[in-house]
Amino acid sequence: MESIKRSKIRNYYGGIAKGVTANAKSSCCGGSSCCGDNTENAELYDPEHIEGLPKEAINASLGCANPLVFADLKPGEKVLDLGSGGGIDVLIASGYVGVTGMVYGLDMTEEMLKLAIQNKEKSGIKNVEFIKGYIEDIPLDDETVDVITSNCVINLSESKEDAIKEAYRVLKPKGRLAIADIVQLKEVSDEIKQSIELWVGCISGALEMEEYKRILKMAGFKGIEVTPVSLYSKEMLKSVATSKKLDDIYKRLDEESLDGAFASAIVKAYK
Ligand SMILES: C[S@@+](CC[C@H](N)C(=O)[O-])C[C@H]1O[C@@H](n2cnc3c(N)ncnc32)[C@H](O)[C@@H]1O
Repeated sequence: MESIKRSKIRNYYGGIAKGVTANAKSSCCGGSSCCGDNTENAELYDPEHIEGLPKEAINASLGCANPLVFADLKPGEKVLDLGSGGGIDVLIASGYVGVTGMVYGLDMTEEMLKLAIQNKEKSGIKNVEFIKGYIEDIPLDDETVDVITSNCVINLSESKEDAIKEAYRVLKPKGRLAIADIVQLKEVSDEIKQSIELWVGCISGALEMEEYKRILKMAGFKGIEVTPVSLYSKEMLKSVATSKKLDDIYKRLDEESLDGAFASAIVKAYK
């Protein structure tokens, strides 16, 4: 049976996918600015990389950095994006690997998959496939892909060990990980750690850097790098909480313990 946390995560991201689809259909919606609270995420990407993508793919962007900047994708490579959401990273990656390559997007949320498939169809991109499943139990054979990307998803997993072990299994020998994620940089209160809402919002499930490295090493990865790129101040977390409609939860928390406790990070490793 599905855990409460997982079903909350699914409902939350399913709701976002429906919201993006509904706003895109609305006749009032001439530009991207009225299409939900994820529009600022377009700033993660170079304009040239998102040019021509369906606006629903851009508006559904929920990542915390751009893994394609350091994934070093090459023509002909096979890529798997864990927790592909509305498909933005998958669609961009398809351009790097070209027609001889292939990009799979894996997600557990039906509404996100539907949105991603619509975005694929609208974009006309062919070398992409969206599949339903869990990152902790990847429905691909051993040694299938050259690169695994992921953007703000590992923090949501209730079993990060299983997700990382599965990533290792499906990577070809010498394959690589290029993950954008959130990490925890200092001790936080139990209230923060135990908040399902903050977990769903990508915060309380974040790993400490040393723990992230330990899990990667245990799975067999080498050349491990976990590098924070953008520290989250209390002001920034407050605005994230507002955009995720988590103000009530935020108000109850100790702001000082949140200040600087989390950061977006890039994670690199090799099989
Ligand atoms: C924060 S969103 C990020 C989406 C996308 N990577 C992006 O950058 O826009 C997290 C996504 O991961 C999916 N997800 C969360 N936990 C998952 C799991 N255990 N297995 C598969 N997908 C999961 C959610 O359905 C959601 O689409």
